[in-house]
Amino acid sequence: MMKTKKLVFLETYGCQMNLADSEIVLSLLDKSGYSRTESIGSADVILVNTCAVRENAEQRVYGRLGDFSRYKKENPAVVVGVLGCMAERLRKELLESESFVDLVVGPDEYRKLPALIDAAIEGERGIAVKLSRIENYDDIVPLRTDGLIAWLSIMRGCDKFCTFCVVPFTRGRERSRTLVNIVREVEQLSRSGFKEVTLLGQNVNSYRDGENDFAFLLASAAAVDRSLRIRFMTSHPQDMSDALIRTIAENENICSYIHLPVQSGSDRILELMNRSYTADQYRSLVKKIKATIPGIALSTDIIAGFPTETEDDHRKTLELIREVEYDGAYTFKYSPRENTKAWQMTDDVPEETKLRRLNEIIDVQRSISLHTNRSLIGITMEVLVEGTSKKSESDFCGRTDTNKMVVFPKNGGAAGSYRQVKIDHVNSATLFGLQLHAAANG
Ligand code: 5AD
Ligand code: SF4
Repeated sequence: MMKTKKLVFLETYGCQMNLADSEIVLSLLDKSGYSRTESIGSADVILVNTCAVRENAEQRVYGRLGDFSRYKKENPAVVVGVLGCMAERLRKELLESESFVDLVVGPDEYRKLPALIDAAIEGERGIAVKLSRIENYDDIVPLRTDGLIAWLSIMRGCDKFCTFCVVPFTRGRERSRTLVNIVREVEQLSRSGFKEVTLLGQNVNSYRDGENDFAFLLASAAAVDRSLRIRFMTSHPQDMSDALIRTIAENENICSYIHLPVQSGSDRILELMNRSYTADQYRSLVKKIKATIPGIALSTDIIAGFPTETEDDHRKTLELIREVEYDGAYTFKYSPRENTKAWQMTDDVPEETKLRRLNEIIDVQRSISLHTNRSLIGITMEVLVEGTSKKSESDFCGRTDTNKMVVFPKNGGAAGSYRQVKIDHVNSATLFGLQLHAAANG
């Protein structure tokens, strides 16, 4: 009798690295005879890939675990597993506090998943949370579902130890994949019809494979197929080399967009954060980037209410945001994380002050984005169509090289094609326009 494939339901929280990891997990499980299901009710195995970067990320996962416990009650044979950064951070605690959880598996132990699931089916609860200095899943081809835009992780872990950040503890030390395997993966993606690849790492700029640095890897990836867009993130300002900036400028298909988190505009806070640059050094870097790559779009991460942050520190952050004129900002209230250095500091900025500062940052950024987007009215931009707009069946949505979302009436073209769109109105988050002419796909 043919054995039917077991079904796995996998939900992912957190950053793009986690999305990429989930594709590695699915690939490992696929090899062991599992297939993916989108319907939790039909799953034999329920997995959740988690994020621990802020307290509220963990709260969301706990909420979801509540739902999973109900499925487990209805069907005790189902295996429930927690993967990723929360698994790594909480370890045994998770098995103790959540009695229906069968498996706890950290980011460097996914190869053990098939065996752990088999054991769980036999009733044995399992935990695997060792961090590794070498595991980089270099030989695993991720099981991707999207056929257009690919996440490709080039390195794992982080050695920067920013004092607020739990990542070095949940994802371990920095290690890079080999250049040949990354380039081979880009070649495969190009052959399978992908149009965009984002090279991922907590700090891609410190990528290294022998003599080869990130600038060389980026240039090599871009040379594979000039009609394939290459993006990358995240960049730490400290490692943004001149060679890298030149590489972005020189290669048409490397997108003109850099996610360059600043975190704060105050030197005192930057030092407490262990960010290793001053606000002025960051400003000079931005100046150099803008001068070398005309039209470059920049985005950032900002934390509001780090321990001891004063109104003056906050004002400096607002000033820097106004000066740089970011195209976008991801903004967070400071959230103390166990094990980190900042955990030892008193979380002394009151919640309502954090929230007010956060909202001020969001407001300033929104008005800058609106202003920048308005300056694009009347301009024709090339858009890679990602699919139908969520808000309207008759519209496409897609992104510019500078990572701006554009919505426009369908009128020819399809997902995966490049279209010329003349922008006619905007808001702070989206550009709207009309296709110039119905050119051939490509
Ligand atoms: N509290 C708030 N924000 C955080 N980030 C990382 N750790 C914390 C924390 N403890 C933010 C940083 C980082 C982004 C991915 O998440 O801005 O760049
Ligand atoms: Fe965390 Fe800093 Fe590493 Fe980013 S660079 S992952 S913020 S420690």
